[in-house]
Amino acid sequence: MKLDSMIQEKDYPGYKRYFRSAFEAQQHHIFRWWSELNAEEKKHLLGQISTIDFQFIQKLFHENTQQVAAPIQGKISPPQIINVPHSSFEKKLAHEARIRGEDSLRKGEIAVLTVAGGQGTRLGSNRPKGTLPITPITHKSLFRLHAEKIHATQQKYHTCIPWFIMTSESNDFISQTFFQSHQFFGLDPKQICFFTQKMLPVVDLNGKLLMDSPSNIVMSPNGHGGVIVALREKGILNDMKRRGVKNIFYHQVDNVLIKIADPVFTGYHLKDNAEMSLKIVKKGRPEEKVGIVVSLNGHLHMIEYSELSREDMYARNENGALKYNAGSIAVHMINIDFLERLYQKNNPLPYHAAFKKVSYIDEHGNAVKPHNNNAIKFESFIFDILKYVDRGVIMEVLRDEEFSPVKNTDGADSPVTAKRDMTNLFGRWLRKAGISIPTDTHGNVIGCIEISPLFALDEEEVCLKVDKHMQYTGFLNLHVNPS
Ligand code: UD1
Repeated sequence: MKLDSMIQEKDYPGYKRYFRSAFEAQQHHIFRWWSELNAEEKKHLLGQISTIDFQFIQKLFHENTQQVAAPIQGKISPPQIINVPHSSFEKKLAHEARIRGEDSLRKGEIAVLTVAGGQGTRLGSNRPKGTLPITPITHKSLFRLHAEKIHATQQKYHTCIPWFIMTSESNDFISQTFFQSHQFFGLDPKQICFFTQKMLPVVDLNGKLLMDSPSNIVMSPNGHGGVIVALREKGILNDMKRRGVKNIFYHQVDNVLIKIADPVFTGYHLKDNAEMSLKIVKKGRPEEKVGIVVSLNGHLHMIEYSELSREDMYARNENGALKYNAGSIAVHMINIDFLERLYQKNNPLPYHAAFKKVSYIDEHGNAVKPHNNNAIKFESFIFDILKYVDRGVIMEVLRDEEFSPVKNTDGADSPVTAKRDMTNLFGRWLRKAGISIPTDTHGNVIGCIEISPLFALDEEEVCLKVDKHMQYTGFLNLHVNPS
């Protein structure tokens, strides 16, 4: 199609400027099949086009592909960390933090924010990750697991924890329907709020927009950093303030061991009057795909695993430990007033280019499933706001207790490892309560255990509630019967 004929489209006078900017940005191939589309398909394509800033996409493409990535400016060093408490003094500090965090929870000042807008491509499923059945025995979904943790925490502290869930256009409807069809997992629908992040077009290695049908441009969520803009644009921050929220507990949907609204972490964050705080685990191996928290010119900074130099990845201290060892588990506390100050600065987060394999249709309309990376998605990352953070707490936690993400279909970080890690954690809790739980030569529990968050949220509660004379026979499901 030519620009002249496009802008003379009588039925779509309001779209002239979009046609023009698509042509100016050399993206007119998206109208290749225009004359063959029916009214519905045209409407869909125009709807997409009206959300795209073609010049901006062009700029992102050039910035991310034609310039060599700027090396990190300045000196990086390991950051200051609150380690897992061992001494009685450290335990006392953790206890004091917990009391402080519990107090804030009781006052209803903490909201939970779950980012669930990703496409979960590595899991190879089109369904939202949150709907994935994941617990070892009853196969509860990730969403239900998080919901029950929130429910149990509310009951424990006689409070209400507003829950905000960020989805994207591609998975919002199914996610919301999933909650509705499961009666919001026993939570009050009014305490749950879904909102969507923005989508950006996916381009090929020449910067051309990809299409996967004659009327559909391939779009992708703009990264979890998109939450920062969405919180303001969708009125979420104001909603939080109306509800009396002061700090946000942020986490990713995929971590089955997440300690939602952990009072100890919250307490440390409050004590230091921190703007943003992070939980980390010691990195398992140099190549592990976790972001690394460092100090850069005295400021906290995250180096994403794909951007860590090989030299720093393998650097070791004199004692043999990895020098850059603070692996981010993407759990944060974020202060609301800090976010407000951030908006005043009006500095958008940078975009990172992710090279991916994306199916598309070629110029003849034939579907192509590529074997190599053929496409670029642009994503912003939440941790890029760290450069504006003056006060931040980094708290180390044990991987076995708090980090087991579901990223892949099999192998590391898969449903199999998530179920194993849950069973092992529950096994340790039960052992503390005096119950004998056998393990194999790898230290993994033999058999299968599930403890519902509504039965017990932690070791302490298990010790209080469990029947100490119980015999473990290789299969144990501790739950509460619905009343
Ligand atoms: C992420 C972190 C990494 C961290 C690791 C811990 C990034 C870039 N890296 O890696 O530093 O150590 O988790 O598990 O985040 N999401 C959205 N919208 C998007 C994209 C993602 O909501 O546009 C959500 C996903 O639903 C998921 C989370 O963000 O809950 C993480 O996304 P994922 O792509 O799995 O990040 P990783 O590369 O695994």
